[in-house]
Amino acid sequence: MDELLDFAGKVALVTGGSRGLGREMTLALAERGANVVIASRKAEVCEAVAEEARALGVEALPYACHVGHWEQLGELADAAYERFGKVDVLINNAGMSPLYPSLGAISEELFDKVLSVNFKGPFRLSALIGERMAAGDGGSIINISSTASLNPSPDSEPYGAAKAGLNAITRSFAFAYGPKVRVNCIVAGPYLTDISKAWDMEAFEKRAKTSLALGRGGQPNEIVGAALYLASDTSSFTTATLIRVDGGTP
Ligand SMILES: NC(=O)c1ccc[n+]([C@@H]2O[C@H](COP(=O)([O-])OP(=O)(O)OC[C@H]3O[C@@H](n4cnc5c(N)ncnc54)[C@H](OP(=O)(O)O)[C@@H]3O)[C@@H](O)[C@H]2O)c1
Repeated sequence: MDELLDFAGKVALVTGGSRGLGREMTLALAERGANVVIASRKAEVCEAVAEEARALGVEALPYACHVGHWEQLGELADAAYERFGKVDVLINNAGMSPLYPSLGAISEELFDKVLSVNFKGPFRLSALIGERMAAGDGGSIINISSTASLNPSPDSEPYGAAKAGLNAITRSFAFAYGPKVRVNCIVAGPYLTDISKAWDMEAFEKRAKTSLALGRGGQPNEIVGAALYLASDTSSFTTATLIRVDGGTP
């Protein structure tokens, strides 16, 4: 294995590591030797992915929590440090983008939930873990954003605004915790994960053919190359930036 992509002895914490893009990134890191912390709301799904990781020869800590709840993030960070003594890679991946009939139909409860999961949670967890990384051996924080943050549209709010906030704090945290900690953002385009189950696939495929440079949605494992790049020393001079992995979304 290329030394630069060898994660043996490293610890990676992935929120939303139980499904979709998060599961792919978790297992890709585990395959390359990283011990992993898998956090999502459903303990049994985290445990199933932890079992897959252990089968690859690494240690895995499944952890059930809601990333929109401030105090639960403190408990998550403490659990990771108690078990492994460090976190080298944090991937703020958990997110949700509910559909709605009109902007006026969005309730305060839904608004707050979308902001909490996509923005407040990554802010708090980056602060909790970034400070410890900066005080220790450093690390890499990767935020998973969306093209909805760069191309705001009336059918993807307040999600797009929450992810735009995530883009903004990528830069702030990179300056706060650099040079020991690098903080970057992957701006994801459309991927065929559980999120896409709510889409009108016929309409999506038609639109994708003409509007995306690659003419299709991404497979979940197509996020992995960018995640490994940002998590590893191959990106040692890359920080405070956004990298689009979106199939050529306009
Ligand atoms: N798929 C796309 O087209 C697309 C496009 C742009 C950006 N993204 C972004 O990419 C990231 C991953 O998306 P995905 O497509 O892989 O989604 P997904 O398949 O729906 O998986 C979402 C993951 O987040 C976890 N999660 C959701 N709400 C949570 C909460 N409140 N607390 C803790 N964990 C929570 C889920 O586990 P539990 O249900 O067990 O909590 C699951 O592991 C998200 O940030 C999303 O916004 C995706």
